[in-house]
Amino acid sequence: MTAPLFLDGSPAAHDALRSAVAEVLAVLTATDRRGPFPAVGPARLRETAAAIEPLPEDGEPLGEVLADVGRTVLAQGARVTDPWCAAHLHPPTLLTAAAAEVAIAATNQSMDSYDQAPMATYVEDRLVGRLNELIGLPEAGSGVLTSGGTASNLLGLLLARDHAAGGANLSGLPAGAGRWRILASAGAHVSVRQAAAVLGLGRDAVVAVSTDDDGRMDVAALDRTLDQLAQTGAVPIAVVGTAGTTDTGAVDPLAALADRAAAAGAWFHVDAAVGSALVLSERLRPLVAGLERADSITADLHKLWWQPIGASALLVRDAAALGSVREPADYLNRTEDDDVLNLVDRSLDTSRRFDALKILVSLRATGRRRLAGLVEHLVDLAAKAGEAVRRRPDLELLAPPQTVTVLFRCRPDGVDDSLQDRLNVDVQRRLLASGRAVVGRTRYRGRVALKLTFTNPLTTHDDVAALLAAIAAEASAGLEEAA
Ligand SMILES: Cc1ncc(COP(=O)(O)O)c(C=O)c1O
Repeated sequence: MTAPLFLDGSPAAHDALRSAVAEVLAVLTATDRRGPFPAVGPARLRETAAAIEPLPEDGEPLGEVLADVGRTVLAQGARVTDPWCAAHLHPPTLLTAAAAEVAIAATNQSMDSYDQAPMATYVEDRLVGRLNELIGLPEAGSGVLTSGGTASNLLGLLLARDHAAGGANLSGLPAGAGRWRILASAGAHVSVRQAAAVLGLGRDAVVAVSTDDDGRMDVAALDRTLDQLAQTGAVPIAVVGTAGTTDTGAVDPLAALADRAAAAGAWFHVDAAVGSALVLSERLRPLVAGLERADSITADLHKLWWQPIGASALLVRDAAALGSVREPADYLNRTEDDDVLNLVDRSLDTSRRFDALKILVSLRATGRRRLAGLVEHLVDLAAKAGEAVRRRPDLELLAPPQTVTVLFRCRPDGVDDSLQDRLNVDVQRRLLASGRAVVGRTRYRGRVALKLTFTNPLTTHDDVAALLAAIAAEASAGLEEAA
């Protein structure tokens, strides 16, 4: 007898799912004790992948497939639960959310229409409502889940564009759109420029407002930019604040930005991909004061809310704003069925996963208080790491940690800027190639910088001290080799 392929409600199908999940768990746990990165280079990985046959003529026993996948694929992954995996906003996931993924995949609700996701539709609506309430948006607000922060920023800026010219969603950009500008800090995420390109405004419609020494948008510079735009006849259609920038973790002065946006008649979007989680904590919430004044907010839940990718939200203060993405289709979100909610009316996606389920399950099972404690621990970890960097003469802190990011560089004695840059590049590359640590590398004010991003609540102060020591040791070794 061949094994069942689908869940048809029969005991045999349930047994098959249970044993398949058990087999997946067996390989997962077998590969769960290793370093943060494979110590083989990209060429070996490419070769290994080339030898895999994804579609054989006849199926292979699942146990054999999984054993092979465990050895060749899972064992060669980045391991986000390792405390030295600290480059990106790329967290371990709540295991309750990971487990709920099975139910999402197995039941395959599609969030576009009520007739494909009856209860799921209202669960997602309830979830975004709860996020709005936590942030302090009015009851008239709304929102929708997206695949990530990039997608949320795109949707937020699409609403900004349609706010600037009602009808742009129907008839395209009006004649004066070439003068439209989006103001974001120089530290804003690259997806803001990408969104401007996708929306037909062009990447260069995004004006980078300079930041202060802490990496926050400089409000005086914003005022100067707004004056200059007014003098040249350009129109600021949106001000984008960032609550937790990618490289410094800085939180822009959101209330001041809200004032400027309101005075200019511009949409106020806040990319709180990182900072949205701060509202979980009474202690940290003041850091994002003004977030509740946004017209739209990116809250990326696969960052400091520890959800499996993808899980993000785009939240809006006025539900009506999302009307501009609505495109009725006779087969799907019919105009005559106005007694039901079809979430495709709020979304740029059609078929879409029931990610709200894993979020709901894991947030309920963890609770706000415990989540707040995790965020607080990570913010404290970054603050302490910043102090440790400051104390070391061979390291230089580049911006004060404000959320979960520490930006710094190795500064061995007596080397010029260009050798220092090369050494820092080498430190990051060598740690990665050896599989010992995944450390961030970026550029800050034109120079190479290293970055630690703390998203793993299991990381301890001792782990961070040891990682900083390993980074400094790698720089001295590099310096000796260069001599
Ligand atoms: C501030 C900020 N916004 C948006 C994004 C994009 O998020 P995603 O990778 O989920 O698309 C990132 C990614 O790191 C980010 O740091």
